[in-house]
Amino acid sequence: MKKAVCIKNLSFRYQDMTLALEDVSLDVFEGESVVLLGPNGAGKSTLLLHLNGILRSEKGSIEIFEEGMDDGDIRSIRKKVGIVFQDPDDQMFMPTVFDDVAFGPINLGLSEEDVGKRVASALSMVGLTGYGNKCPHNLSFGEKKRVALATILSMEPEILVFDEPTSNMDPKSRTELIRTIKELNSEGKTIITATHDVNAVPEIAKRAYVLNKTILAYGTVKEIFENADLLREVNLEVPEVVKLFEILRCFGYNCEELPLSVEESIEHLTRTIEGKDGHVHLHIHEHTHEQLNSVIDRHFHPHKHHNFDKI
Ligand SMILES: Nc1ncnc2c1ncn2[C@@H]1O[C@H](COP(=O)(O)OP(=O)(O)OP(=O)(O)O)[C@@H](O)[C@H]1O
Ligand SMILES: [Mg+2]
Repeated sequence: MKKAVCIKNLSFRYQDMTLALEDVSLDVFEGESVVLLGPNGAGKSTLLLHLNGILRSEKGSIEIFEEGMDDGDIRSIRKKVGIVFQDPDDQMFMPTVFDDVAFGPINLGLSEEDVGKRVASALSMVGLTGYGNKCPHNLSFGEKKRVALATILSMEPEILVFDEPTSNMDPKSRTELIRTIKELNSEGKTIITATHDVNAVPEIAKRAYVLNKTILAYGTVKEIFENADLLREVNLEVPEVVKLFEILRCFGYNCEELPLSVEESIEHLTRTIEGKDGHVHLHIHEHTHEQLNSVIDRHFHPHKHHNFDKI
């Protein structure tokens, strides 16, 4: 499989000497969608900003589709890698939404007609049709995030990089955004997403890297969410669905592998119920109380024991 992104031994220090990245190596294959997880200050944004040369480091190497940052011209890299910044204000600098979304396609040298088409399609994908004449400055934060996304979609880059795409989005916009990311990936785009939104992770990616200055772990999303010690170390939690199934397990639901997403839960329940003559039997048994306390300890109130009076 072709590598879309290949980072080797990258280290980076900001001017004030903050060491933000240390010996980071990471590969993303063409057509993959991977997530980058890590606590605040882990260096996620710093790493992403290296992917199209906004930040550069002397230490280590980055290749985009086997083209090095140094040997290629940066314009060709920027055509291939579109980064949706964490802060949308960093992405908008024109007087209207239309101009901001048209900026990239105009720079690609497209005709006026094609630019118009790209803008209309990008605004429609983020649900902002009709917003073209608005001043980006006056939009709500969530709307700005969607315009920022449109400014990248309109360039149709092969690699899309999202930095905290779901933060500050209302639930419906968040769901639509997740759907857009999935669609882009199924169309063949390579996607890299830095996020704290653990519930979105299984929806958008199969593989994850955990970063805290350096890469602490990588593997399938399932493997990462099974590593409780690692999650604790990097301030992460498992998705809510996993917690629910752990609770069901205390009541006798039989599942070795915990589903990570709503889709997986439906598959899991269907399989289980079909395998049990159409019924799942939940009950309170002698260890239910103790097991619930252990789930609660792990996920909800780490230092508090509960008395489940009713059971
Ligand atoms: N311009 C800068 N100058 C100096 N230090 C910086 C600069 N930008 C970021 N840092 C520092 O680099 C480290 C990594 O920051 P970065 O923004 O990459 O983290 P992050 O993983 O994206 O965090 P978050 O989850 O909060 O977005 C932090 O310690 C931060 O304080
Ligand atoms: Mg960040």
